[in-house]
Amino acid sequence: MRYLREIFDDWLTRAAALVFVLITVLVIFNMRSELPEEHPMFGVFAHGMIPILFIIGGVIFVFAILRSEISEQVPRRRHEKLLFLMFAGAVSIIMLVFGGFKLVEFTETTSFCGQLCHEVMYPEYTAYQASPHSRVSCAECHVGSGAEYLVKSKVSGIPMIMSVLTENYERPIPTPVRNLRPARETCQQCHWPEKFSGDLVRTHTSFAADEQNTRKVDVRVLRVGGGESGIARDIHWHIAARLWYLPLDEKRQEIGWVGVEDQGKLVEYTDPARAGEATPERIATEKRLMDCLDCHNRATHIFRSPQELVDEAMARGKIDNSLPFIKREAVKALVPPNPSLAEAINRVEGIRNFYRGNYPEVYDRQKQSVETAIAELREVARLTTFPEMRITWDSYPSNAGHQEAPGCLRCHGKLAKQDDLKRTISADCQPCHYFEIPVS
Ligand code: HEC
Ligand code: HEC
Ligand code: HEC
Ligand code: HEC
Ligand code: HEC
Repeated sequence: MRYLREIFDDWLTRAAALVFVLITVLVIFNMRSELPEEHPMFGVFAHGMIPILFIIGGVIFVFAILRSEISEQVPRRRHEKLLFLMFAGAVSIIMLVFGGFKLVEFTETTSFCGQLCHEVMYPEYTAYQASPHSRVSCAECHVGSGAEYLVKSKVSGIPMIMSVLTENYERPIPTPVRNLRPARETCQQCHWPEKFSGDLVRTHTSFAADEQNTRKVDVRVLRVGGGESGIARDIHWHIAARLWYLPLDEKRQEIGWVGVEDQGKLVEYTDPARAGEATPERIATEKRLMDCLDCHNRATHIFRSPQELVDEAMARGKIDNSLPFIKREAVKALVPPNPSLAEAINRVEGIRNFYRGNYPEVYDRQKQSVETAIAELREVARLTTFPEMRITWDSYPSNAGHQEAPGCLRCHGKLAKQDDLKRTISADCQPCHYFEIPVS
């Protein structure tokens, strides 16, 4: 005991011991426990402290060595002191490596990406939570596997963090995201393009803005198809086909040239109206291989409109469609977008007064339905109101259709075979979808 007391009899060695204990405890803590998802700052602190402590420990170490070198009177147990410092230093380095691994792992969690830069990522995070990929982590699409992209993402993350700290970023965040990892290495880890999907039936239930909220059901069958190259067909044929295209604008909404590899030959298509812009030099340097993201650019950050979300809630029975004018009133509260979420919720709450004033007997009879509808509409408000980032349901049109944005019609019905300009790429409805299911 006396021996130990003598080793730790000065403040410098004691400070070194304290730092060492703190590092050890933190690393063990971070390794063993799941950090609370809802408090990412806690995780940043728990992980970020380790390198800071390590630097402090290093400074103490250097001081202690210098002191024992230059001081006149040799301190007691000088040898053991140095031994302890070296031992603590060596163990701390190992701890730092482990801690580093955990830190990298932590920066890949959804909690870190989605909540830390709360304001910037809030809309994407919110849309993602309500999407088919809500169980896929941000990093699985934005980083993928392998060390190279891990490092790249951390390096490109630094200016991003700086721009958040200085609030110097564009609102909304511009797309297409330039340095996104190719879909081959992310999406295709889970969805293999050779898989043949066949025809996909989509039913779409909508409600009119009349007193009865008249229901309408559309059914369309999408010919997704796919399959291995050579035999692939229908919509997912583009993936097997190795199709190159030349975008003429930043947003990739205007396409000037397409080349499809076919048994060593290149079958070319051009837009006769803009032939001059698709020069051979531009094609050589700017062409892109079409991949999943050229159609599924909204794979997970799907910003749906109040109309769509209200229709869906009504179709699922979450909003009682026997409430007169509920569709009209719900949409009126949320379109056009409100200046703040509080305001949106305020307007949704106002629906109660609409029934009290105009349909008092309905309100008395179906009070519970009105309350349930309001609760559901608060959720719709949350999914559609992003004034801080200036995002609405129109900000990021999807390319996987042709109604809200050109999508498929960037090429179909527009570009023609280079050697036969009368043959445009077909824009007939049938090869893509049909609306009547043949019953036999
Ligand atoms: C299923 C794959 C996938 C997941 C999971 C995913 N993203 Fe994305 N994200 C994309 C794609 C693809 C784009 C590119 C869209 C484009 O270029 O038009 C994108 C774009 C973005 C953008 C740019 C703005 C926008 O709306 O396009 C932000 C910000 C973003 N993602 C943040 C996140 C965050 C935060 C998470 C996790 C909470 C996440 N992403 C999870 C696929 C994904
Ligand atoms: C880690 C695995 C994983 C990755 C990576 C991934 N997905 Fe998915 N994706 C899924 C799962 C699981 C579903 C099915 C969800 C369901 O059926 O509810 C799905 C569903 C889909 C759907 C159908 C959505 C719908 O409305 O039914 C599309 C389209 C899709 N993914 C495209 C993409 C694209 C594009 C990417 C790359 C940006 C991607 N996925 C990356 C796992 C993944
Ligand atoms: C030419 C445009 C286009 C390309 C390229 C494309 N898709 Fe699709 N995909 C569609 C359309 C359109 C649908 C059907 C409607 C929808 O789900 O949006 C669809 C449907 C899907 C579905 C749902 C299928 C089902 O059976 O539920 C998945 C999963 C999917 N695509 C993944 C991918 C992946 C992964 C890639 C890249 C390898 C890809 N798609 C490339 C247009 C495309
Ligand atoms: C970059 C240009 C481009 C875009 C964008 C595009 N296509 Fe195509 N598509 C083509 C070309 C080129 C062909 C081959 C045309 C031919 O053989 O005459 C084709 C062929 C097809 C075929 C027939 C495939 C077969 O079985 O032979 C379908 C179906 C199709 N596209 C659907 C879609 C859908 C759906 C979208 C939007 C989600 C879309 N395409 C977007 C260029 C494009
Ligand atoms: C190149 C392929 C292609 C062609 C050609 C095409 N469509 Fe579509 N259409 C799509 C895709 C993909 C969607 C999106 C489906 C989805 O998300 O469920 C779509 C969606 C639609 C929708 C539903 C929109 C909505 O939001 O409810 C209608 C209506 C429609 N198409 C009508 C037509 C008609 C009519 C024609 C023929 C004049 C046609 N389309 C030609 C691919 C095509």
